[in-house]
Amino acid sequence: MRIDIITVLPELLESPFNHSIVKRSVDKGIVEIFIHNLRDFSEDKHKRVDDAPFGGSAGMVMKIEPVHKAINFFKSQRNYDEIIYTSPDGEKFNQKTANRMSSFQNILILCGHYKGIDQRIRELLITKEISIGDYVLTGGELAAAVIVDSIVRLIPGSISDETSALTDSFQDNLLASPVYTRPSEFMGMKVPDVLLSGNFKEIEKWELEQSLERTKKLRPDLLDGVDF
Ligand code: ADE
Repeated sequence: MRIDIITVLPELLESPFNHSIVKRSVDKGIVEIFIHNLRDFSEDKHKRVDDAPFGGSAGMVMKIEPVHKAINFFKSQRNYDEIIYTSPDGEKFNQKTANRMSSFQNILILCGHYKGIDQRIRELLITKEISIGDYVLTGGELAAAVIVDSIVRLIPGSISDETSALTDSFQDNLLASPVYTRPSEFMGMKVPDVLLSGNFKEIEKWELEQSLERTKKLRPDLLDGVDF
């Protein structure tokens, strides 16, 4: 998979992709991530990429020309499965979308900033707007980092124990069961006996029960319309 990200703040995206599973996946050649500075596509002598909105409201708007030039440049190089704009107005991101996107070949992400982008870019070039939740971030970079992280870990070969991603919370509309490690007793709190029993059938049954119980208690909305 190849991921191109267009941003006005490339520095903000350096760290999230330089550690842990995402970095390992890049090193293994499972994914390529390229971060591009929108200012490099500005023809303004001061490299400006924003301007005041028509109509006189407060804040600044990302200008149409540099975004148009950047997206068209990348589109001329390859086909993108999706051209994403990160915005609080977008479709709420979830595990189902992450699963679907993890099979994509090429993804282009435009990080929103300031008051937003000129509406004409959204109509002309964006194929999907994604929000990571009902709150407003300073910019779309952290949202892009969240989206990329959640997709990359699902690409086969990314996580060494391939079954691990399948037992994540949300994978079957269920929260994950609780996990424990050594010591088996801490301050009088004991690890459930079944986990020490070595009986894998019983362990699996216990984990499913725990998942169901936790989901019913903490996120009953996930079980709406699900038959067990
Ligand atoms: N930009 C600002 N807030 C955002 C959000 N909640 N999701 C995606 N992009 C954003």
